[in-house]
Amino acid sequence: VSVIDQFLDQLLQILGPAGCVTDPALLDSYITDWRGIYHGQAMCVLRPSRTEELAAVMAVCAKAGIAVVPQGGNTSLTGAATPDGSGHQVIVSLNRLKRIRAVDIIDMTVTVEAGLSIAELQSAAIAAGALFPLSFAAEGSATVGGAIATNAGGTAAVRYGSARDLLLGLEVVLPDGAIWNGLRRLHKDNAGYALRHLFAGSEGTLGVITAAVLRLFPAVHAREVAFCSLGSEQDVLALWRRLREREGGSVRAVEYMSGDSIAIVLRHGGLRLPVGVADHYMLIELNASQPDAPLRERLESVLAEALEAGEVIDAAVAQNGQQRDDFWRLRESQTEAQKQAGGNLKHDISVPVSNLAELLRRCRAELKAWFDGVRIAPFGHVGDGNIHMNIIQPDGMSDSDFLACADDIGAVIYDVVESLGGSFSAEHGIGRSKLALFEQRRPAAELDLMRRIKAAIDPGAIMNPGKVLRMPPT
Ligand code: MLT
Ligand code: ZN
Repeated sequence: VSVIDQFLDQLLQILGPAGCVTDPALLDSYITDWRGIYHGQAMCVLRPSRTEELAAVMAVCAKAGIAVVPQGGNTSLTGAATPDGSGHQVIVSLNRLKRIRAVDIIDMTVTVEAGLSIAELQSAAIAAGALFPLSFAAEGSATVGGAIATNAGGTAAVRYGSARDLLLGLEVVLPDGAIWNGLRRLHKDNAGYALRHLFAGSEGTLGVITAAVLRLFPAVHAREVAFCSLGSEQDVLALWRRLREREGGSVRAVEYMSGDSIAIVLRHGGLRLPVGVADHYMLIELNASQPDAPLRERLESVLAEALEAGEVIDAAVAQNGQQRDDFWRLRESQTEAQKQAGGNLKHDISVPVSNLAELLRRCRAELKAWFDGVRIAPFGHVGDGNIHMNIIQPDGMSDSDFLACADDIGAVIYDVVESLGGSFSAEHGIGRSKLALFEQRRPAAELDLMRRIKAAIDPGAIMNPGKVLRMPPT
């Protein structure tokens, strides 16, 4: 019996056949990222149904020196959850670990296992009379564990923060198989290093998140959504400023879409633009927990002021739930439509909000000067200064010609970002697609500190190797 067979046999004994998948046909959906950009191999997919089972198999992997790639809903945009091509790694899927362990409406917390999807958690919160606010287009598949491990942001971060801001407690299986139970439901907990924040954003390189305590908020009973067209980048910022000053506490989303990004979504089919064609668009959502909050009047009044001030060309306020969903679909279909539109280079960037107009303007001007014909289709989260500066393959250009420009296009964008005091990764993380950028654009002292943390927690370097940080060979 080979060493590998012995290893797999040990895993099988702990997890049973449903928990240890080796059939190549069943591995397919786990070894490729959802955009079809990264293709890997895996010895098997482990699907523990309890934290203790995962702890036991982690101990086996640690002893054998086998690398482990944690995977939630497999919706990473940076290849963070896809194994390498060696066939020597195992995937740990959390998709059977998905119980809600507790909901407390006085504490305003939910204790939930890592494999529950974000949409399922939102529904559970509503059923309990509360709101779980994390929200993004992939929420139907993305999981609690993955969202925390990547510190996901999304469209409500402007009001409620990113995953990290919702995180109160954590349970993690460490690389040696030990379980750290830090599932405290405390809104204040100031004892030493905030370990939960080390794991948030670690992208599976320090341990496997198995459960978390997350914050809940008062249920939303009133929602109003508007869709606007605007004439300039400066107007985007001016409208946001006006909104924040007038309605700061009730702005749930303030999303930007460029003329090109809307054109791509419309070409994708089935959707209608509620305002005239323009170079810039914004979607605004206000919400409130009081059912009788006069949000419609308040939204209309801010928009009327903005129209008067010339910041907005045209604005439509959704008249019913159907229209509200239709407006949102123009925003939430961006990723899928761009995926269909040909080669798509994603640049998930952020700048101080005050530099947002400059970011949009300078990226467009410099890219136009250098790369004639590329389609510049940014969209993103205005209130967080976070833009997805996506560049789409022009009609008629070959895939290889387009991809050959990728690094040069990236360099132009990231130089603009850096000169405006921004970040080359706002909410999608590093994964494997931004390893080199991370090394180029962050101070050596910062990377060194992170490598020392990684080496201390994962001395065998078995946790998601090749993601986030390149480590010296052990
Ligand atoms: C979004 O804002 O829709 C997500 O970050 C996904 C994406 O950028 O494609
Ligand atoms: Zn986003």
